[in-house]
Amino acid sequence: MKEKQAKDAVVNHSRVGLHRDASSPVRWIMPHLNVEALARQIGEWLHEGTVSAHHPAHLLQFASVDHNTGPQLRTVVLRSSEPAAHWVRFHTDIRSPKVEEVRRQPRVALLGYDPNLRLQVRMDAIAAVHHKDSLAKQGWERTPPHSRASYASKRVPGEALKQDVVHHAHAPIHDLEDPAYNNYAVIHCAIEVIDLLELDSDGHRRGTLVRAGGEWCWQPVAP
Ligand SMILES: Cc1cc2nc3c(=O)[nH]c(=O)nc-3n(C[C@H](O)[C@H](O)[C@H](O)COP(=O)(O)O)c2cc1C
Repeated sequence: MKEKQAKDAVVNHSRVGLHRDASSPVRWIMPHLNVEALARQIGEWLHEGTVSAHHPAHLLQFASVDHNTGPQLRTVVLRSSEPAAHWVRFHTDIRSPKVEEVRRQPRVALLGYDPNLRLQVRMDAIAAVHHKDSLAKQGWERTPPHSRASYASKRVPGEALKQDVVHHAHAPIHDLEDPAYNNYAVIHCAIEVIDLLELDSDGHRRGTLVRAGGEWCWQPVAP
């Protein structure tokens, strides 16, 4: 039904998209531009998060479902993305609980907020874990030696400790064959739905981009 509504909406609102100028500082969601352009702009907003640690999309919240069907939420660093294809990736420890959660239930969610644009970007995605495959190898090669070091811990993430311990950073890892690689994984998230909420003193705007059959459809939604 949601998909049908979104398809109908795209006929009526075939031109929806972005508009930002000096007189109107934040107008992401306007009913006279292009749906694909809007989706692309969100893809680029995400990509900027992989390029600059200061960009609001650099840190996103990633939600999965645990074995009790409860939500689990945590911050992750966006490492790579493809603006046109709308996928994002982050790195993780294969031993961390989120890996098992994603394998069990690949439907996940990601959340970002850009305070400059006053824009909330809420995404549904399908996640896949890459471990010791060509994609993981490529990610490992591109990971700086000091970041590779965080996969060298003998402790399993989330493991209960007998006492508080300060974990000193492991030395940077330059050797690509280091055993720490065995603990390293990439989580690839293919984005399927993007719910946009733009806060504006003239009135908030909200709408949902839904990917259906390779195309993005737009459904305006009450904020
Ligand atoms: C700023 C920040 C960035 C983080 N980035 C990542 C990350 O990219 N990958 C990751 O697995 N955990 C990252 N973490 C740690 C997670 O938020 C989380 O605590 C950890 O991965 C354990 O999650 P889990 O027990 O749900 O698997 C980050 C934490 C913070 C505070």
